[in-house]
Amino acid sequence: MNPKQLAGERAAEFVKDGMLVGLGTGTTVYWTIRRLGEMARQGLHIRGIPTSRRTEQQAIEAGIPLTSFAEVSDLDLTIDGADEINPTLDLIKGGGGALLREKLVAAASRRLIIVADSSKLVPTLGAFPLPVEVVPFGWEVTARRVAMLGCIPTLRTADGQPVVTDNGNYILDCRFGTIPDPAHLHRDLKLLVGVVETGLFVGMADTVVVGSESGVTLLRAGEGGTG
Ligand code: 5RP
Repeated sequence: MNPKQLAGERAAEFVKDGMLVGLGTGTTVYWTIRRLGEMARQGLHIRGIPTSRRTEQQAIEAGIPLTSFAEVSDLDLTIDGADEINPTLDLIKGGGGALLREKLVAAASRRLIIVADSSKLVPTLGAFPLPVEVVPFGWEVTARRVAMLGCIPTLRTADGQPVVTDNGNYILDCRFGTIPDPAHLHRDLKLLVGVVETGLFVGMADTVVVGSESGVTLLRAGEGGTG
């Protein structure tokens, strides 16, 4: 079976009756949402908060009841994907452009469970260009300031136009090469005017469900990570 499908479906087992669940974005958590839809049809009662319009659409089609932060403040858990995962389970996220809502939802959750195939496990973050969400006004000057932190930022485009996030912002994909201190870099980026959020998720994930050709492995924060 496809490693993403293995990981995604296995993670659905963490969801129990009555839970409020954050629904991540991407091709791995797609399989979780699909499975949760099946479980809902078989009688599981959950309510979800989606991290993107794309996921909202999938959840509605799958028959998962949705709620919002107008009604609830805390979620039991969130299941989401990642672009890179280091041995202490710090993450780069945002390859799919949903990093701001993903971080808001994860920060409101008691647990963040990450689903990924084994290609996402890395010794050090940074080979994947770090997505940074920025305000469109003056994005060029924000990009210059971001570059001074040691990267080459590229405005994310599609069909020659800037990609606009669900929140009306732009994304800079920032090629650092290596990020030895993710917490420090996240803080430095957040201090820049014009930066809305970064794709560095530091100390947020408690479990990673890794799918590979040989099956599923669970990694837990504080247990040695990916080694
Ligand atoms: C979207 C994300 C995704 O979770 C991340 O890009 C992983 O996606 P996939 O499971 O498709 O590889 O952060 O903003």
